[in-house]
Amino acid sequence: MQEMSLNTPDGACEILVGEHLSARLKSLEQDLILLVDENVLCQHHDIFEAFRTITLPSGEVYKTIQTVENIYRELVKLEADRSTMLVGVGGGLATDVAGFVASTFLRGVPFGFISTTLLGQVDASIGGKNGVNLDGYKNMVGDFRQPSFVWCDLSLLSTLSHREYVSGIAEVIKYGAIWDEGFMVYLEKHMDQLLAQDMKVLEHVVTVSAAIKVEVVENDERESDLRRILNFGHTLGHAIERHQKVLHGEAVAMGMILAAKLSNKLGLLPSAEVQRLQKIIASAGLPVEMTLNPEELFQNIRKDKKKSGEEIHFVLLDGRGKTKIKAFALNELKSIVHDLC
Ligand SMILES: NC(=O)c1ccc[n+]([C@@H]2O[C@H](COP(=O)([O-])OP(=O)(O)OC[C@H]3O[C@@H](n4cnc5c(N)ncnc54)[C@H](O)[C@@H]3O)[C@@H](O)[C@H]2O)c1
Repeated sequence: MQEMSLNTPDGACEILVGEHLSARLKSLEQDLILLVDENVLCQHHDIFEAFRTITLPSGEVYKTIQTVENIYRELVKLEADRSTMLVGVGGGLATDVAGFVASTFLRGVPFGFISTTLLGQVDASIGGKNGVNLDGYKNMVGDFRQPSFVWCDLSLLSTLSHREYVSGIAEVIKYGAIWDEGFMVYLEKHMDQLLAQDMKVLEHVVTVSAAIKVEVVENDERESDLRRILNFGHTLGHAIERHQKVLHGEAVAMGMILAAKLSNKLGLLPSAEVQRLQKIIASAGLPVEMTLNPEELFQNIRKDKKKSGEEIHFVLLDGRGKTKIKAFALNELKSIVHDLC
């Protein structure tokens, strides 16, 4: 098992990466209520049945204020109070929702996460961003509050669909591209073992990814500058996700390729590096080509919540493991998107 902590002015979050971590719930002394993703509860009933649980419906369409409201009511029925600790168990959807509920119910109760998807373990569960979607727009309502713990239980990944697992690999590749060239080389060498969920490789990959996210968040919790680099591939990725029926990681993979191509056009990244990124993305089984409607894509980017005024901040690659953030005026971006698609 690997252990690290994320320290912010609000306190410390313990992050553990290893097998069978969910068994640790029994050692917690607080009064617990688990908010568990429905599929996780179904697949791992034996682990969670001893606890009071609220089932979270699976699917992005349920990441809403309505779901949050339903959970508040269940918590009232269960007589939860300020000393009750909520534990969100599931992927990014469950932890985003559980974190938001815990931050707002009774003006905030203690909470922790057991992360059960690869995407959740390497990204979504770490960093204290909680929230829900509004009218189909991603994460429009939410807050920043760190959980007390995030346990990345690698054993639970065995029941995740292969497609969801691969979707998480997109975020892993992102860390190599934006931050750590040595990690990129490791991924190039070990992609087959990672795809086969070889425990040694998986533990290393989740630990390195989580440690990079921790380092970035510790230096910029509220996303004023540095944290923005984690959005590499996401400005276009979110726009793709909104009008194509693809998973988050699949959209991000495509978004990263388009952002790398743009970096190349702007003279920041050699063509060979764009091809290298495409190659590793393809080796994971992620999409490297999609039929995209540029006008629709542009309209979706316009609505991106990271738009400040009439500008969009775009994360570009500036060589191996390096990034550059550039602000584009909306009309400039329109022609860029038409060019890229
Ligand atoms: N807060 C953040 O910083 C942050 C960062 C990135 C993404 N996100 C959010 O994360 C969400 C996506 O997260 P995700 O990719 O983990 O998807 P998800 O939570 O929707 O889970 C994907 C699917 O896998 C199922 N599942 C989860 N764990 C399982 C397991 N162990 N076995 C079997 N099935 C399992 C779920 O029921 C669901 O059907 C999005 O809502 C996104 O906005 C948040």
